[in-house]
Parts: sequence; C-alpha cells; structure tokens
Amino acid sequence: MTTLSPQTAPGHLRSTGRDNEPPAAPAAPTSPPVLSVRDVRVSDHVTGREIVHGVSFELTPGRTVGIVGESGSGKTLTCRAALGILPAHFEITGGSVEIAGTDIAGLTPGQWTALRATTISAVFQDPASYLNPSIRVGPQIAEVLRVKKGLKRREARHRALELLRAVHLRDPELVYRQYTHELSGGMLQRVLIAAAICADPRILIADEATTALDVTVQAEILDLLADLRVRAGLALLIVSHDLAVVAQLCDEVLVMRQGEVVEQGPTRTVLRRPRHEYTRLLIAEHEQYGLDKFLVPQEAS
Ligand SMILES: Nc1ncnc2c1ncn2[C@@H]1O[C@H](COP(=O)(O)OP(=O)(O)OP(=O)(O)O)[C@@H](O)[C@H]1O
Ligand SMILES: [Mg+2]
Repeated sequence: MTTLSPQTAPGHLRSTGRDNEPPAAPAAPTSPPVLSVRDVRVSDHVTGREIVHGVSFELTPGRTVGIVGESGSGKTLTCRAALGILPAHFEITGGSVEIAGTDIAGLTPGQWTALRATTISAVFQDPASYLNPSIRVGPQIAEVLRVKKGLKRREARHRALELLRAVHLRDPELVYRQYTHELSGGMLQRVLIAAAICADPRILIADEATTALDVTVQAEILDLLADLRVRAGLALLIVSHDLAVVAQLCDEVLVMRQGEVVEQGPTRTVLRRPRHEYTRLLIAEHEQYGLDKFLVPQEAS
C-alpha cells in the first residue's frame, strides 16, 4: 500500500500554517444536491448475495465526499451504482440514486447518454479499459467535446490539447496523436482524467484515480481537481486508500468495511474522534505521518 507522507503530500495538501482557513469555500449548505445516494444496496443476482448493505450520502456543488475502507468493501460498486454501470450480474436492490434531482431508476439509455460527461463523469483505476485502443487518444477527447459541447473540429482539438496540458502531460501534441499502447499507465491515467473533465461535469467520481501516479503528478492532478471544485463548483466523490488525501480534500468521509458503512461524518470529526474500531485501525496505520497536519478546519456542525 502506498501512502503519502507529509514530505511527499501534494503541494496544496501540505500544512500551510494557515490552519484555520479552509482550503476552499464550500458551497452554501442550502445548495440542492447534485447527487443523492440513499440507502443504496447492491446485490449479485447470480448468487443472490447482497454486497453493499445500504450507503447514503449527498454531494452538493463544490463539496467533496470521500470513501475509504479495506479492499473488497464495496467502494467501487457504490460508485458504479451511482453511475449506472454495475458489472453484468450486479443490480441495485434497495434505496435510490438521484442525479441532479432525477431518479436514475427510470433512466433510458438515451437519458444516461445525455447525463454522462456533462453532468456526471468518472475516472477509475484501469484507464485502458475506458479508451478505445484503435483510435488515437486526442481525437477521442475531441470527439466528446464535439458531441457534448458542440465544438467545431478545430476548437475541439485546441481544447483537447489544453486539457492534456492541464493534466501535466509533457508533450500534449505528441500524446494527442498516440494510441493507448504507446502510453505509460500514468500517462493513460492523465488522459482519462482530461477526458473525464472535458465536458465540464457537475459531478466527478474519482475511484483511486491518482493512485497509479507518482506523488508529484498526483499532487498536480489533485490541485487541478481542487481548483475545479472552487472555480466551477465541481462536486467530487473520491475513493482513496490514502487518508492524507481524504483528510485534505473531503468535507465528509464514509468508512466502509464488508459492504457496510461503519462510520460517516465530517472528515475532521471522523478522523479526530473515530467511534468505530475499524476507523481507529485505519487511522493508526497512517498515524506515523501525522494526519493532524492535513486536517481541514472543523465545519460548523
Ligand atoms: N465484476 C465483478 N465480478 C464479481 N465480483 C465482483 C465484481 N466487482 C466487485 N466484485 C465483488 O464485490 C465486492 C466489492 O467489490 P468492490 O470492487 O466494490 O470493492 P472495493 O472496496 O472497491 O475494493 P478495492 O479497494 O480493492 O478496489 C468484492 O467482494 C468483489 O469481489
Ligand atoms: Mg475499488
């Protein structure tokens, strides 16, 4: 397991000495949620086993919710449930998901297509499976921009190059013309992040999206996401094994184990005063890095 130490933590994540200032101005709590997940249950309909036993959280513009927990605890299935892309034999068997006020239960494929990229977007850990290996990567992003944002061919190319630059790819012109097999895992991950944010989504789900990147690039990408959160009111759902990232970026955290949310609340409260033994264990694993340094100021609660 890789873990951020204070020395290697992203630039904006390091303690600034201004510990009483929030890193971002959160949206007013009265903003309507852009994503509401209520008591969602996910089951494997082949075995009949329920895997995720009721997860609830809300994302409002500019807010970030984090999910942490052991491998296999249901973090990715929860994200996939919210995105309507569960693996073939899994289904939502309880609760509800609303995206921008619309219950996803009744959505047609066409309605999903309209929501994806512009309203809700995601980055997962296995970028290769989300990009077409037979099409150069730049044109794949440009195509999304043409379809979703109505950009002309030239504008779309220009914007795609800007995005490749924004995710800190060293030679955007070259990467634009390359195929997935010509890129490293870290480069692919950044291409996928560029693609995920290209149509200015309102919600971004980042499931271990920066884990494969080296710490400097990880810091730059997290800075970029934090900036979008402040400037564009992006609502973020972050899955990370890294409590330092969660402590810095997330307003609220859910701790999952074996498909259950064992603890949930404002990040600072959960990390400073964990109630569940499992949360204490997770924190103990990170304690050597001094999590306190990363904690954002307590919100009025
Ligand atoms: N495509 C799939 N086919 C079969 N079982 C799956 C599939 N995806 C997930 N599962 C099972 O569902 C459970 C939850 O998986 P999930 O991927 O949500 O875990 P996770 O918390 O994201 O773990 P990790 O931290 O390793 O990514 C696990 O027991 C896993 O084996
Ligand atoms: Mg996962």
